[in-house]
Amino acid sequence: MPAARTGPDASTTARDAQRLSTLLEVSQALSGTLNLKSSLQRLLQTLIRHHSVVRGMITLLRDGELHVEAVEGFEDRARTIRFKVGEGITGKVVESSKPIVVPRVSKEPTFLNLAPRRPEQAKNEMSFICVPILQNRQAVGALAVDLRFKPERDYDSSVKFFGVVSSMIGQALNVQKVVEEERRRLQDENTHLRQELRERYDFSNIIGTSGPTRQMYEQVAQVAQTNTTVLIRGESGTGKELIAHAIHYNSLRAKKPFVKVSCAALPDTLIESELFGYEKGAFTGANARKKGRFEMAEGGTLFLDEIGDINLSTQVKLLRVLQEREFERVGGTESVRVNVRLIAATNKDMEKAIADGTFREDLYYRLNVFTIFVPPLRERKPDMLLLADHFLEKFSREHSKVIKRISTPAIDMLTAYHWPGNVRELENALERAVLVCDGQVIHGHHLPPSLQTADSSGTVTRVSLKDAVAAFERDLIQDALKTTRGNRAKAARLLDTTERILNYKVRGYGIDVRRFKSPERRPLLEPVRELPRELVRDTAAAVTSQ
Ligand SMILES: Nc1ncnc2c1ncn2[C@@H]1O[C@H](COP(=O)(O)OP(=O)(O)OP(=O)(O)O)[C@@H](O)[C@H]1O
Ligand SMILES: [Mg+2]
Repeated sequence: MPAARTGPDASTTARDAQRLSTLLEVSQALSGTLNLKSSLQRLLQTLIRHHSVVRGMITLLRDGELHVEAVEGFEDRARTIRFKVGEGITGKVVESSKPIVVPRVSKEPTFLNLAPRRPEQAKNEMSFICVPILQNRQAVGALAVDLRFKPERDYDSSVKFFGVVSSMIGQALNVQKVVEEERRRLQDENTHLRQELRERYDFSNIIGTSGPTRQMYEQVAQVAQTNTTVLIRGESGTGKELIAHAIHYNSLRAKKPFVKVSCAALPDTLIESELFGYEKGAFTGANARKKGRFEMAEGGTLFLDEIGDINLSTQVKLLRVLQEREFERVGGTESVRVNVRLIAATNKDMEKAIADGTFREDLYYRLNVFTIFVPPLRERKPDMLLLADHFLEKFSREHSKVIKRISTPAIDMLTAYHWPGNVRELENALERAVLVCDGQVIHGHHLPPSLQTADSSGTVTRVSLKDAVAAFERDLIQDALKTTRGNRAKAARLLDTTERILNYKVRGYGIDVRRFKSPERRPLLEPVRELPRELVRDTAAAVTSQ
């Protein structure tokens, strides 16, 4: 009936509906952004728009004081006000965690009258409601509002409504705390990882002192601080990626990203969108714009690994980026400019690829500004032993084993081998050796089968039982001879055999015992003259009688 709609029930229903829609808006304001300050500001604006709120203020506790987080309807300087807990009505609300209602501000003597903040106070009577913001049942702030005074106002219901709003603020604070903690954890982790990366790719972690390696260090040091494009060439497993990292982490771009693209691992259809990104709708499945690796590396270094494997159409685009420092995303027309340093690596014979027409000569010249050749491991034998020691230590630590050294025969095998897989193959060989080693010394038989034959040419990949046993026996004998400094009788005892059998085997395996004999020892100070026998005897007697 029409009369019922104009009665008090209808107005209560309308007010409840208004409050519900306000709560919805408030929850959207609080969840819409991670910027809490602006959410709180929007919240106050909503209260002013839909209720008879004239002004509002949200304070939060920080360092023992209440700071104004958001204000609406007050003079600007209200933002800088601080309250002490227990001071004024807001301070009391926080202290007691209980709401306070002042129906008529003009009649309240304890009201902390901040005159400049309430200019029209004299003309219009105001009501004031302040509710605590709780987090884990503790007041962490307050929501305070000035309402137009209405004699018929139901203050209980108003306090409940603002209480619901303040509990939503409390929830938002909880979420922000979790997000903040997570962000801080990620930041710490990021700093830590960056530090770890920098340490890992520090020069001191590139092992080697041979001539070619020193030359390589010099080149890296020369080029690192510049923006020059670098081409790193060398066989597979020689350490090209390690060098690329070292250049980046020793450059002015060290704090910016190092982004790697393995050109050979990406199919031709994907490489362009991977490198340059794509626009929404560029192809089926492109639901949103995606940044390419060039954009991800902004300010830092882009490492194009195995550049010799990219197709000719991508080569054209790459050439343009190198010439003009700009490109378009796949399916886009807008040019994107980037500030990226390029490092490329390849194990391919680029000159042959150019002759075959699979690599553009113009691109090659653009890449070939500063070339670093990483020599194969077989050409830097002195590095090999240092690297073997380095990997032994690394993998012993990783697998919690105490392995102290590599036996001489095993070292001989390492040096005799030609390492077609370079440092990576050596690294794998030592990891395997550490895993299978059951003592404190790496012996020849712990090394992979490809190193087992006398002429470890790498052509023999299978080994017979007879050969393996022989290699093991030869190892043991050589190691015993090393321990006894070439003394055959002692070595035989150590191996629990006779000197005759040992001699027979030494001859059979062609072991050169002389190399284990300790070098002739000379006293540091030659005696001036021989001491007379009596004096020696007297001195000995004096010592024993003491
Ligand atoms: N001088 C070195 N000091 C320490 N470790 C090295 C050295 N050179 C290479 N390594 C290690 O050898 C492994 C192979 O190196 P890297 O991946 O850099 O080689 P690559 O030339 O990029 O190989 P590929 O051509 O197969 O990609 C890595 O684990 C690397 O840490
Ligand atoms: Mg590599």
